[in-house]
Amino acid sequence: MCGIVGYIGNKDALPFLIEGLKNLEYRGYDSSGVGLITPDGGLQVRKEKGKIRCLEDLLAKDPVKKAHIGIAHTRWATHGAPCRKNSHPHTNSGGTIAVVHNGIIENYQSLKAGLIAKGVRFLSDTDTEVIGHLINEYFEGDLVKAVQRAIRDLTGAFAIGVISSDDPSTLVAARVGSPLIIGVGEGEYFIASDVPAIIRHTRRVIYLKDGEMAVLRSDGVEVMTFAGKKMPFTVDKVTFQMDAAQKQGYPHFMLKEIHEQPEVLRQMVALRLKGGHVTLDGLGISDRKLKSFTRIKVVACGTAYHAGLVGRYIIEELARVPVEVDVSSEFRYRSPIVDKRTLLIAVSQSGETADTLAAVREARARGASVVSICNVIGSSLARESAGVLYTHAGPEIGVASTKAYTAQLMMFYLLAIKLAEVHGGVDVKERVKFAKDLAAVPGLIREILKNAKHIARVARKHSHYGCFLYLGRNINYPSALEGALKLKEISYIPAEGYAAGEMKHGPIALIDEYRAVVCIAPQSDIYEKMISNIQEILSRKGKVIAIATEGDALIQQHATKVIYIPRTHKLLTPLLAIIPLQLLAYYIAVNRGCDVDQPRNLAKSVTVE
Ligand code: AGP
Repeated sequence: MCGIVGYIGNKDALPFLIEGLKNLEYRGYDSSGVGLITPDGGLQVRKEKGKIRCLEDLLAKDPVKKAHIGIAHTRWATHGAPCRKNSHPHTNSGGTIAVVHNGIIENYQSLKAGLIAKGVRFLSDTDTEVIGHLINEYFEGDLVKAVQRAIRDLTGAFAIGVISSDDPSTLVAARVGSPLIIGVGEGEYFIASDVPAIIRHTRRVIYLKDGEMAVLRSDGVEVMTFAGKKMPFTVDKVTFQMDAAQKQGYPHFMLKEIHEQPEVLRQMVALRLKGGHVTLDGLGISDRKLKSFTRIKVVACGTAYHAGLVGRYIIEELARVPVEVDVSSEFRYRSPIVDKRTLLIAVSQSGETADTLAAVREARARGASVVSICNVIGSSLARESAGVLYTHAGPEIGVASTKAYTAQLMMFYLLAIKLAEVHGGVDVKERVKFAKDLAAVPGLIREILKNAKHIARVARKHSHYGCFLYLGRNINYPSALEGALKLKEISYIPAEGYAAGEMKHGPIALIDEYRAVVCIAPQSDIYEKMISNIQEILSRKGKVIAIATEGDALIQQHATKVIYIPRTHKLLTPLLAIIPLQLLAYYIAVNRGCDVDQPRNLAKSVTVE
């Protein structure tokens, strides 16, 4: 995923471009660049490998002239290593057209071969570079027409910004499959991949739809199809609070977002759960239609996939409706059995994950009804679903997902109660009791967070371990997967989540005194089984960190270290068990000096396959 921004108006473009990139750095940060058209009609490009501060250093050494129109880009490499020549903007050979791009041009090799055959010289290894050369091929004085013709040759996903010194008063933007918004200011207009880039300048936003392009000039915006047909558009007001996207005194976004979880979940409960009854505004499906579904499929990636796995346990337990969960990249290629009696639930924090979007399109084509659980309003996934259950967790800037995960879990609990009402799963009395326990969860998470210092101490004692195993059973098997993902993606320590019952079928060979094993062992009907696992680990000198229920003294005899969580309904323990696992991963990564908010090789949303 990459971040693109653009500006046209009466002010100096460069400060906005740099500020906008910094607010999008979470989308990718291996290189960045700017392109500006100066009043004397010259196109100036500066780009550099590394974070945006490296670009600022370059601009200080090699400044650009003042300009009122420009585009900029912060990159997460897909084609071509992170380096200056592969950074955006990319230009045509004559240096009159500049392009920034987020996405993948799937047919770029054939386009590149055709252009090379015509004598075009390429400077980079990227797919993006073909776009500027194509526009140049079609340019006959009208930039808009040239862009329209060029993008009709492209296949794949793209959000682009284009400027040209031969048409210095026009900024063109277009999107298919990657997010792009248009900011409407006072005598100035913006393009951006996401709201944080422009929020300080305007809250008035046009969400460009797939297959649309926007033409920005200093006197206004036009929206049209790639064929040039004018399209109506609405200017929405964004309620997003910028300070919500800042650290607010925490050392990292991730720690702030971990501590925001009780309030996020409290608001979700307050909004949607009253007296055991759930209201799911945005579901977009009637109770009658909900009742007609004979199966549910969940598609998601990464952390969202783990939330889906927990969702399966909850929905099957409460509503007795069969649920299958797939990683999106597998679902779409396995010829899934989906029809009009299938409810497909797509889970995605960003709503822009390419594989999940593709899975949704596959399911819709086979007749399924799609509901998404999403955190970003107006995202591509939201627009492609019959119903959207927004988690309203606020911006999640840390690449490692925390509050979005527990918000997704909460949404599954609420949805399961709704499905139980409609399908007649558990009886009303049990449903109301469960709902009451659910409403108490935010307060229980606050209790766990008060214990953060103890968790930091446990992390410090285990930061030197070279490998971790996470074990859980039943509804906490996904908790083991998610705990392992949290650790590996921010500390780079190999960590594997496993169903504890599977330990003897292989992973036990890993156990020795150099191995740390995290065992999720809350009080439940399978607690004894977890104690057996812990004993098997200890007998092989493994070190055990146990997540256990407050008041459980027995576990002290078995585990090297114990982190307690409050007692709650057995189905609700995933909402609690993940909190110490998030903190454990965070503190270990900090102890190891890792870049917690922007881990190497990762991006906040994977908008390419
Ligand atoms: C989670 O910590 C990771 N950053 C990653 O696995 C993420 O959950 C995955 O890429 C899915 O993203 P989405 O929820 O935006 O679709």
